[in-house]
Amino acid sequence: MDSSVIERIIDKHHGEAGSLIQILLDIQNELRWLPGAALEMVAEKLQVPMSRIQHTVTFYKAFSLVPKGRHEINLCMGTACHVRGATRILEMIETVTGLQPGETDADMKFSLDTVNCLGCCAIGPVMEIDEQHLGKLVPDRTAALLKKYD
Ligand code: FES
Repeated sequence: MDSSVIERIIDKHHGEAGSLIQILLDIQNELRWLPGAALEMVAEKLQVPMSRIQHTVTFYKAFSLVPKGRHEINLCMGTACHVRGATRILEMIETVTGLQPGETDADMKFSLDTVNCLGCCAIGPVMEIDEQHLGKLVPDRTAALLKKYD
């Protein structure tokens, strides 16, 4: 882990403990996960107890304590998407990537998770890849979309 990345992010937020969540989000965005060494640096520099940081990173689903792939897939399995075939989309994603929800592939290409609603039910079934919403999915189109990522 490059500690200068952590220092730069903490400096950007003036080392303020009140910016803890934003600092953790910035680290997560940069490293794609929160290594233990990064959390220890944050605790030390912000003078925040490690127990508070652990509570924060385990409370919010956005944080990951394991390395994530270059592309994060969040497939909606909420009611509106479910009735429009999200289960078939999930099966196709699993076939193409070899992943089950919660997993990251060995090449660190994709991480797959399911969510309960992405807030755009009208275009369901929908998945989010790298924060881009892809809607009105059907299995074949889903497979073609996934093949565009490297
Ligand atoms: S239920 Fe899928 S976006 Fe809302």
